[in-house]
Amino acid sequence: MNKHMLAEPVPFIDLAAQRRRLGKSIDDAVSRVLAHCQFINGPEVFQLEAALAAFSGAGHVVSCASGTDALLMVLMARDVGRGDAVLCPSFTFCATGEAVALTGATPVFVDVDEATFNMDAASLERGIAAARKLGLKPKAVIPVDLFGQSADHDAIAAVAAEEGLFVLDDAAQAFGASYKGRRLGTSGLATATSFFPAKPLGCFGDGGAIFTDDAELAATLRSIRVHGQGSDKYDNVRLGLTGRLDTMQAAILLEKLKVFEDEIAARNKVAERYAQGLGNVVTVPHLASGCTSVWAQYTIRLPKGCDRDGFAAALKSQGIPTAIYYPKSMHQQTAYRHFPVADGGLSASESLSGDVISLPMHAYLDEPTQDRIIKTVRGAFST
Ligand SMILES: Cc1ncc(COP(=O)(O)O)c(C=O)c1O
Repeated sequence: MNKHMLAEPVPFIDLAAQRRRLGKSIDDAVSRVLAHCQFINGPEVFQLEAALAAFSGAGHVVSCASGTDALLMVLMARDVGRGDAVLCPSFTFCATGEAVALTGATPVFVDVDEATFNMDAASLERGIAAARKLGLKPKAVIPVDLFGQSADHDAIAAVAAEEGLFVLDDAAQAFGASYKGRRLGTSGLATATSFFPAKPLGCFGDGGAIFTDDAELAATLRSIRVHGQGSDKYDNVRLGLTGRLDTMQAAILLEKLKVFEDEIAARNKVAERYAQGLGNVVTVPHLASGCTSVWAQYTIRLPKGCDRDGFAAALKSQGIPTAIYYPKSMHQQTAYRHFPVADGGLSASESLSGDVISLPMHAYLDEPTQDRIIKTVRGAFST
């Protein structure tokens, strides 16, 4: 093909479009930080925590350096460590299980529901049984709200209560989504999120936050994020991290939070149009009753026997990028293969890893571009 006729490439996530919309407000916010020079624990950090608490309904918000630290800090605060088991879905980003392994505890991988991609409560029970058989003490469960959709928190809470586990929700991809009318951030003991730039609410670097209604836990987390500091600054009372969110990132997030509701609505419109345009050629995402999504990813499943690499190449040739989240579930990865899995195996995770593929998704995807993507996906099945 003549190179001048190549289709204009579509961005997978268009951070530049959001930057254009917010324009000067972000520049001004950054300039304010440059002027006051309180780069660590500046006023914007505490303003952001208050704004996030108001947005989510959580009693306390502790901002931190990343979503991974958010998970790790809660596990550290609860003294999770060697001999403990923490149940996680296998079909997730590696940070979920990584945070567990970093404490010395054992991640035990459980299966997901094929329709929602989120933790399957029946497999959770089987994972707890597998952990006990190995002599481990099941201590916590980390449901993940994958691709932006809330997990089935009531079903997981029921198993956790029965088995004496605390729930740490990994909402790294789903801040802003809700479960049964309540925003994520209020289920279980605590919720962790990430502000990585590609997340629905992202900053311009690394960042994260923890949400909890437990004041004592919040105080411990505030100590952990500053090396385990006690009331005497030079008497550290526990092990901790350099776990703070930079003031600059907090200032950027405060501006982005102002348009977040509107962006969530725009993402939902894109998802609706994709579902209408593609629902009869591929398996489009299923929203479970009572759950909403912020569509961190729009992930479809290809029909059985479809060549995924060939499909991705066909879209790429038309300027449409795709991504595979996740080609390997955690229990299939080199660093995690030796950890236990729920009795009965993880067949749903394995089959999803084999046939999912994600399409471009962001709040600034205009209708003509959506139509072009829909037409190209449909075209890939018409030959
Ligand atoms: C499900 C999940 N958990 C945890 C994380 C970790 O977040 P961060 O990259 O901010 O450490 C991510 C980030 O991609 C994620 O998707």
